[in-house]
Amino acid sequence: MRSWAVVLESGTVVAVVSRLNSAILPLLIAADCKVTALASNLSRMTSVWELANPQLRDLAVYEPGKPIEETARELGFDPSTIIKLASNENPLGSSPKALQAMRAALENAHLYPDGSGFYLRKAIAAKLSVTPENVILGNGSNEVIEFLGHAFLNPGDDVITCQYAFIVYKLLAAAFSVRTIETPSPDYQQNLDATLDTITSKTRLIFIPNPNNPTGRLISQRAIDSFMSRVPGSVVVVFDEAYFEFLDDPPDILRFIHDGRNVVVLRTFSKIHGLAGLRIGYAIAPPEITEVLHKTRQPFNVNSIAQAGAIAALDDEAHLRKTKRAIAEGRAYLQEQFTDMQIPFVPAAANFLMVNVGDGCAVFQKLLQRKIIVRPLKGYGLPEWVRISVGTMEENRQLIAALRDIRRSD
Ligand SMILES: Cc1ncc(COP(=O)(O)O)c(C=O)c1O
Repeated sequence: MRSWAVVLESGTVVAVVSRLNSAILPLLIAADCKVTALASNLSRMTSVWELANPQLRDLAVYEPGKPIEETARELGFDPSTIIKLASNENPLGSSPKALQAMRAALENAHLYPDGSGFYLRKAIAAKLSVTPENVILGNGSNEVIEFLGHAFLNPGDDVITCQYAFIVYKLLAAAFSVRTIETPSPDYQQNLDATLDTITSKTRLIFIPNPNNPTGRLISQRAIDSFMSRVPGSVVVVFDEAYFEFLDDPPDILRFIHDGRNVVVLRTFSKIHGLAGLRIGYAIAPPEITEVLHKTRQPFNVNSIAQAGAIAALDDEAHLRKTKRAIAEGRAYLQEQFTDMQIPFVPAAANFLMVNVGDGCAVFQKLLQRKIIVRPLKGYGLPEWVRISVGTMEENRQLIAALRDIRRSD
């Protein structure tokens, strides 16, 4: 097919135009670009997709909660007037102790961080009654999920999780050319009996988000104990406890780690500690597993500011208590309001609620117009639902007022 190169004065080729997209030629010429017939070797230029790993072609990119700045830009709003209830962040902000420690740590930002995260791993270990060898830090717990892929997955393996599970597990598996088997969750909860029935010789990792994001459902200690008594030692079981600190009576998973089982527990500083922007999380596992995971990480994967903030945040009991109380109060208020409005929701254990609004994308858009960002769940196969993070009481009230307003104008 005949092609033309579009070249800047500097000689840089800025576009290759063929008959298929030749409608843009007059525009490029008007913009003072030089158009020349393309040398035959250039016209056969290889698409980068022919070079890239094939499993990446159809891999969806993780879609985070819509950022405040982007919303403000797109809709012409003042960013300070926008309420974000889309990423399960701490509505009270960062731990004040962490902020203070991070400001002090900035003085040494010219130095590389402690690659081993010695003091933070020691502090986490002391808090959880494990050893520092049981702990590995990640650039967010998402990075530890990636370590698990590097450590345990090869093309052709299987990963098991449940329908509606936190989507990152599936994205990770696809990036490693690994199949994800999702067991059905008709009641929005992982069925651990079905998980056991799905294990084959190809199964390497099982992901159990507890509570799950976005459904919010929590699996009981009894169900977990029964599962753990039957799961074979040939698979690594990953309990993702990103919302652990919000729970009143959390299941005890660390006991399996003390027993040396092939279990990994993921935790994060992004949620109750209010440090999502710092990107810091961790895993607790038997030392044999953390030793393997350490081999997969970059030498300085967690920056020094984040390490300093996390050490201080761990110790900030007052901020933890205040946040937990605010979330419990806000969650109760929202559930009460949804009941009153006859809007179905999944009773929540953490700092977010999954709510059936009929058409999730439409309500997401209507709330955006009212300066509130929530998370539509179409990408999770839940087109009727949105996920709403619990905010401050003022934010929760504004959300309910907006939903009532949408109802009135529909
Ligand atoms: C279940 C679950 N796991 C892991 C993460 C990732 O957390 P981090 O910010 O530590 O990467 C999240 C974040 O939303 C989550 O909901």
